[in-house]
Amino acid sequence: MSEAANWVRVASAADIPPGEMQAAEAGGKQIAIFHLADGGWHATSNVCTHAFAMLTDGWFDGTEIECPLHAGRFDVCTGKATGAPVEEDLAVYPVRVEDDAVMVGLPD
Ligand code: FES
Repeated sequence: MSEAANWVRVASAADIPPGEMQAAEAGGKQIAIFHLADGGWHATSNVCTHAFAMLTDGWFDGTEIECPLHAGRFDVCTGKATGAPVEEDLAVYPVRVEDDAVMVGLPD
């Protein structure tokens, strides 16, 4: 992935404990922020690539998110589609945490 040009604050780290996720909107994009149980942070598009559902309305388990609509699954670290019926991967965004600010890098 190329270095993102625009870092945007999307959440407060204190609001997303390990194992939790949160929806955010930045740069006109719907974004899902994931805080892994091991402390890692990841961000993907929040919109399922199958039909239309917000993934943060689904179930976050380990490193996978399950879509609330048809139970498709994605790896939140890579965006890879891992469970039918989804076939198209999710967009992923770089994340960094500075003090309490969760920042996502958006492309120009
Ligand atoms: S909309 Fe997500 S699996 Fe169908």
